[in-house]
Amino acid sequence: MSEYQITSFRPEHLVPAIQLFIANYEKERNKVPALASSAEIVERIQPRLAELTAKFPACVAIGNNNTVCGYMAGISGLKNFRGPHDGVYILEWAHASGGTDRINVYALMYEYLAESWVTAGNHVQAISILAHDGELQDYWFRQGFGMEVIDAVLCSKPSRGPEIPGLEIIPAHRPKDVAAWIQMRHELQQSLSAAPVLLSILKAPDVESVMDDPRQQILMAYCHGYPAGYMMARMDADGVAAIIGGPTTFSINGVYLRPQFRNRGIAAALLRRIVEWGEQQGVPRIGVDFESANRPVCRFWQKHFSPVCHSCVRHVDARRVSQEDPNVPPPEEIKEIAGRACRWAEQRLGQTGYRGQCLAFVEDALEQANQLELFGGDTAAESADIYEAGNINAPPPEGSLVFYDWEGLLNGELRNWGHVGLSLADGNVIHAWDKVRIDAFSNIVNLSVPPGSGPLRYRGWVPLQRVLLGMQRR
Ligand SMILES: CC(C)(COP(=O)(O)OP(=O)(O)OC[C@H]1O[C@@H](n2cnc3c(N)ncnc32)[C@H](O)[C@@H]1OP(=O)(O)O)[C@@H](O)C(=O)NCCC(=O)NCCS
Repeated sequence: MSEYQITSFRPEHLVPAIQLFIANYEKERNKVPALASSAEIVERIQPRLAELTAKFPACVAIGNNNTVCGYMAGISGLKNFRGPHDGVYILEWAHASGGTDRINVYALMYEYLAESWVTAGNHVQAISILAHDGELQDYWFRQGFGMEVIDAVLCSKPSRGPEIPGLEIIPAHRPKDVAAWIQMRHELQQSLSAAPVLLSILKAPDVESVMDDPRQQILMAYCHGYPAGYMMARMDADGVAAIIGGPTTFSINGVYLRPQFRNRGIAAALLRRIVEWGEQQGVPRIGVDFESANRPVCRFWQKHFSPVCHSCVRHVDARRVSQEDPNVPPPEEIKEIAGRACRWAEQRLGQTGYRGQCLAFVEDALEQANQLELFGGDTAAESADIYEAGNINAPPPEGSLVFYDWEGLLNGELRNWGHVGLSLADGNVIHAWDKVRIDAFSNIVNLSVPPGSGPLRYRGWVPLQRVLLGMQRR
């Protein structure tokens, strides 16, 4: 038995959960001192975690002495999430675990939640991880997740380089700036849709909503009057990880230099101007997020910014999500097979030819009425073992095979031969005992048995779906 109990997240788990996250966050902050203080983070994420865990499936791992050793929660049912399907996203503050056994705790929590996410139709699963937690990243990579996005925070302002001849940097405000920006934004989308980034081209935000937003700054770079590129930043850190974001953080939400103007220091000059603008506004932090597959962009940003979050994504096979098992017939066909087998069996009521051959009777009903060949044991007891007969707390549904233990003498041999019948509607079973007969499944244990043998004991039932596994059509 596991030494952890995985259960649903409850309000009393909130404070210990935040403490677990903050312990990990402090380790990240030791590597990246530009990150906000723990007190600021607690204030920002505690209400959000309370809301998230009240609204969506969430779990905790409870260890010895009733301590919270881990927690996990995801926003599920996100439409068109990194593809045409629904998805679930576990934010960087919506999971944590502590101690030397933390990866084991993560494995138990993921197992607990992932099944319900997939059952609810979430094809895509994404998680953001603190960037310096290599051990945890390795765990998620082994679960089939791959890195897609890096969130980073500014650590060093670009130094002033040599003068770039003919360069002019101005905020976009004239109609010709807007026209050039629209054109270059389109070029950027095209370049991100090409290999190796391969992003889909999404509908771009409405031009007026961007230009008229007082929180948005767009800087244009002109070279000898020719539009060379742009960089844009926003005042509320929308889009970057919550541990960077906040109302007083800038996020850089776009950069593009036309290919012929690259490698001259123009993007660095644009960044320097954005940083100076932030300094004038008293902004303590600047964040950015970018695709990890975009190598030139990663190289540029990582010169001045430190990664603090890696967002990783897993695409679950759509065939798994739709729950269709190609190895068993569809439910409608199973119902028809059961119906034909029951009718075949009922036509033989009262016959004595199957006495002592209960398994042959059930198999013949299924096989002859449906032109099938099945794979089972040599005796009813063997078949019950192979199919793992059970479900004793629920009555057998129509078409299921109902099993009993029966130890007796057959063909001169005394052993548990077992007994089996085919379930009809209303808990009745058709089976071959002294003759082919119908009895309530619970009454079969009261049937009289041959002298010298033990009583019939109810073993449970097996759905027809399981019995049909691997069947051959004749
Ligand atoms: C990433 C990008 C913005 C960089 O723009 P850039 O103007 O070329 O950047 P810089 O010139 O400041 O720096 C790039 C390199 O040129 C070098 N450089 C700067 N001035 C130079 C000069 N005068 N001579 C030679 N090299 C120079 C820099 O040192 C840097 O080199 P490094 O990568 O070896 O360190 C640009 O490649 C681009 O637009 N890419 C596509 C946009 C995109 O994908 N955006 C996604 C948004 S996240």
